[in-house]
Amino acid sequence: MSNMETHKKLTIGLFGFGVVGEGLYKVLHQTPSLNANIKKVCIKNPGKKRNAPAELFTTSREEILSDPEINVVVEVINESEPAFEIVSTAIKNGKAVVSASKKMIAEHLTEILDLQKTYEQPFLYESAACASIPVIRNLEEYYDNDLLHSMRAIVNGSTNFILTKMFEDKLDFKQALILAQQLGFAEVDPSLDVEGYDAVNKWTFLLTHAYGIIEKPSNIVFTGIQNIQAGDAGVAKEKNFQIKLVAQAKKLNNGKVAAFVLPQFVTAEEPLSFVKNEFNGVVIESGFADKQFFYGKGAGSFPTASAVLSDISALRYHYRYEYKKLYHHTPNKLTDEFFIRVYVSFDDWKYVPRDKFEWIEEWHAEQDRKYLIGVLPFSSLRESNWWRENNTSLILSPDPIIEDIEIRKLKKMSLELAGILD
Ligand code: HSE
Repeated sequence: MSNMETHKKLTIGLFGFGVVGEGLYKVLHQTPSLNANIKKVCIKNPGKKRNAPAELFTTSREEILSDPEINVVVEVINESEPAFEIVSTAIKNGKAVVSASKKMIAEHLTEILDLQKTYEQPFLYESAACASIPVIRNLEEYYDNDLLHSMRAIVNGSTNFILTKMFEDKLDFKQALILAQQLGFAEVDPSLDVEGYDAVNKWTFLLTHAYGIIEKPSNIVFTGIQNIQAGDAGVAKEKNFQIKLVAQAKKLNNGKVAAFVLPQFVTAEEPLSFVKNEFNGVVIESGFADKQFFYGKGAGSFPTASAVLSDISALRYHYRYEYKKLYHHTPNKLTDEFFIRVYVSFDDWKYVPRDKFEWIEEWHAEQDRKYLIGVLPFSSLRESNWWRENNTSLILSPDPIIEDIEIRKLKKMSLELAGILD
C-alpha cells in the first residue's frame, strides 16, 4: 500500500527539464484539479536558460531525495545510470516514482522489480513506451496472457518519422533526422533511434507486461533503419508495401514466444500502414477479441508529458503495476525455434550465405543492387552478423513467422512439385 492518502497533495521533485520535463511543467500548470505541484527541479546545467522561475531549480539531487515533503519523484533525465541511482534512492527513501527513462528501465528491470518488492513503492513508467498510448496499463490490466496471441507495434517515433519523410515527402535521410531532432522526437544520441536501440529497450519491458518475459535488450534480435536503401523503397512500392520498423511478438504453438525488432514490409491493409510520422501504433491479437489497434503520438513534449501526468494522477488512487504475467501466471519464455521469410538486398552475392537459407523464392540480380526473398531459421540471425554488414539490408516479409510444423509441410510440397516425391 502506498503511503499516500487519497486526498493528500502530491508534492513533486522533478529530475530533468528537457523536452519532457518542461512539457510536464507546462501541462501541470494547466491541470490544477490534480492538486500536484512541482517543488524543485534538479538539473545538470545551471547555466542554461529555462522557461521557469530560477528558484525552482537546483543542481543538488539530495535537495529532492532527502526532502520529506516531496512524496513523488518524477525522473525524466537522459542518462540511464544516473537515472537508476535517482530512482533507486527515491524508492528506498519511501517516495513514489514516475519515470520516462526507457533505456534505464530496460537495462535494470530485475533490480527495479526487486526494489519494488522490498520497498513497496509504486514505480510507474507509462510514458517510456509509445508515449501517449496507454499500452503498459492495458497489457497489465486487460489482457490475460493465455489469450494474448501476438503484438505488432511501431514503438519508435523518430524512425517512423524519418521513413515517412524519406519515402513520402522525398527528404533525404539527414534532412529527415535533423527535423526529428528539431521537433524533439529524437534521442540526444540519435543513433539510439536509428539503429533500433530505443525500440528494443521499449520492447524489452513491454514483453514483461505482455508475457512475463524478463530479458536483457541485448538478448532480443534487433536492428534499426540504418541499412534501408532507396532501392528497397522502390521494391516496396512495386509490391504496394510500406517499410516500417516493427517490434513483434507472437506466441507459437509450442507455448513459447517469438520476439524481435526488425524492419518489415507492411501491407496496405494492415493498421500499422496508417501509422505515419512520429505516431506509434500497437496491434494486439487476442483470443475472442481478435485484433485491436492502439494509435497515438509516440514522441514529443506534450504527448510524453501527458503519459507522465496520467501516472502522477494514478498515484492518487495508489495504482501500481502488479506484473501479473510474471507473478500470477506462468511466465512465457522466448524462443528462436522458428523460421522467417525475409527480403535481403545486397551489393554482391559473396555477402549472402545462401547455405543458411531453407529455400530462396525469388532473386533479382540484373542491377547493381541485387535482392532475394527466402526463408531462414531465425536462429541464424543470432549466429552471425552478415545481414547487418557490407551494406546488406534485411527486411521481413509481411506475416514473416513460419513455425516448424509449417516448414515441414512447405518443404514437402516443394519436393512434390519438383517431382522428387509422389
Ligand atoms: N526518441 C524516442 C522516439 C522518443 O523517437 O520514439 C520517445 O520515446
